[in-house]
Amino acid sequence: MDDRIELLKGDITKHEVDAIVNAANRTLLGGGGVDGAIHRAAGPKLLEECRPLGGCPTGDARITMGYDLPAKYVIHTPGPVWRGGSSGEAQLLASCYKRSLELAVSHDCRTIAFPAISCGVYGYPLDEAATIAVREIKAFLEGDRQLEKVYLVCFGDETFRAYERTLGKKE
Ligand code: APR
Repeated sequence: MDDRIELLKGDITKHEVDAIVNAANRTLLGGGGVDGAIHRAAGPKLLEECRPLGGCPTGDARITMGYDLPAKYVIHTPGPVWRGGSSGEAQLLASCYKRSLELAVSHDCRTIAFPAISCGVYGYPLDEAATIAVREIKAFLEGDRQLEKVYLVCFGDETFRAYERTLGKKE
């Protein structure tokens, strides 16, 4: 496994990295889960910057400042809602990771932290989502030398175990 990928358990809002990724919704106006936690920790200026962005399509990403968060930037990416797997969910989830990494690199980030996008409210099966996340991150890192660390921050044990299984799999 690329030693630049690191699996952690905890609250992504506490991480002092260049960018944390927010599992947002298409309005970018906040919500529950990690979206709610990030907006609470960043403070009201985050929503003020998000509002004029006019939302973001599923699978794409937008970058804002991090305000009261320890992270410099927040990269907001709406993941797909799981609808059984035949509505292009896998491609959209992969795109969330790819677009977020592209934005991080274009903003001179060296470190980035991801939550398990779509694995909460949006219901994406954990093992499948972890496989997509790890595959996309590894593929991106093969062509990138700027990023030093990509953290996968798992809020719960179940998520952590799913990522451990995925990272442990042979190439
Ligand atoms: N730090 C890290 N991970 C977290 C945190 C946190 N503070 N809080 C929740 N998570 C984890 C969840 O346990 C889950 O594994 O983030 C993952 C994504 O879950 P959700 O936050 O529910 O996001 P998602 O499934 O992508 O659904 C997005 O939920 O919050 C709303 O506005 C958001 O409508 C959007 C939808």
